[in-house]
Amino acid sequence: MAVTALVGAQWGDEGKGKIIDILAEKSDMVVRAQGGNNAGHTVVADGVTYKLHLIPSGILYKNTVCVIGNGTVVDPAVVLAEMDELAKYGVDLSRLKIDARAHVILPYHISIDELSEAARGSGDIGTTKKGIGPCYMDKAERIGIRMCDLINLSVFREKLANNVKIKNDIIVKLYGGKPVDFDRIYNDYTAYAERLAKYVCDTSVLVYDAIKAGKNVLFEGAQGALLDLDVGTYPYVTSSHPVSGGFCIGAGVGPTLIKDCIGIAKAYTTRVGKGPFPTELDDEIGDRIRNLGAEFGTTTGRPRRCGWLDAVILRFAVRVNGLTGIALNKLDTLTGLKTLKICVGYKKNGAELRDFPSDISELEGCEPVYEEFEGWTEDITSAKSVKDLPKAAMNYLKAVEKLIDCPVKMVGVGPDRTQNLEMR
Ligand code: IMP
Repeated sequence: MAVTALVGAQWGDEGKGKIIDILAEKSDMVVRAQGGNNAGHTVVADGVTYKLHLIPSGILYKNTVCVIGNGTVVDPAVVLAEMDELAKYGVDLSRLKIDARAHVILPYHISIDELSEAARGSGDIGTTKKGIGPCYMDKAERIGIRMCDLINLSVFREKLANNVKIKNDIIVKLYGGKPVDFDRIYNDYTAYAERLAKYVCDTSVLVYDAIKAGKNVLFEGAQGALLDLDVGTYPYVTSSHPVSGGFCIGAGVGPTLIKDCIGIAKAYTTRVGKGPFPTELDDEIGDRIRNLGAEFGTTTGRPRRCGWLDAVILRFAVRVNGLTGIALNKLDTLTGLKTLKICVGYKKNGAELRDFPSDISELEGCEPVYEEFEGWTEDITSAKSVKDLPKAAMNYLKAVEKLIDCPVKMVGVGPDRTQNLEMR
């Protein structure tokens, strides 16, 4: 597998965790490069259920080095809670590396995330309220506190004092919220720093050395292409870069070093939070997909909006990520539907749109143009190879490949890591 990037090809929640888990077994290193604990996946290993938001699940394999790269935002309390949970089951944490340049999420970020969302009223973004956006705002404003600052007490004290003053003005004067307390944050965070210091280093050197040494390195994306701050459905996006280019910035590696890029998609589409969603199903088929596909958020528990597969979105994901393949998850969720639809284009004001619009006001009111496909009723969850799939399911997969001009490399037919079929 050498150097492979895995990215979400839709609006996040594509089942990346399962594919990452499958590939992590063969990986010497797994790298997160963007986002924070707004992501999340559940991994079951040796009968234990782990809910991880920040630490790559590769940590469960004995020899895999797990990197939290410079482009991430780290909530120290969350990472320590995950470490404690893993330690309870004897997981060796010396393989965890956190970049010195990763930004630290502080209580005022969480507070401002909540207050600014409330102030937006019905125009809210629907964020996870984990402080992600406000932390990246500080990074862009160049007042952020990085892991290297956190573990340097005098630097931390000075930067924190400055920021608490600015943020309390925003919290109290702008939003009428409750101010944060400097002493409390300082005491809590210096205790976190003491525990985290030994994991902090320049991870871009580690990643480069691993690639140069010919190791298998897996870049683990969080969220999905449509949530990308630049090319996604702005403003209903996250504040980082979930597209493949995000790995270059967020892990400090050059683009020529990443060879393969696999996009993870579901056999249908879901989204959480606000924003236009052309193939959304507000009917019993949408409910059926939500219930059979267990489409409720790992991080927030929110029910996900569900709809038909959208080939316009997948073509966009192929383009902006340079995908070399697709892993199509949850094909089994579609079993039992008489007719399946795939959106092949959009129509707006009588005109056909070939490409995904760059402006959501253009996306708003786009009507999907569907192609229909015959469904199947056979249980596919115990298929051992694509040869075991019903003809109608194979036709569906072949249609996807043709519509998006990208090979489907893996097909998910159930939640277990064994329920994954190789197409090629
Ligand atoms: P934030 O990342 O918490 O700022 O939220 C911004 C938008 O991204 C909201 O619509 C969230 O629901 C969405 N989002 C963030 N992380 C995820 C994820 O892991 N899966 C799906 N949506 C996400």
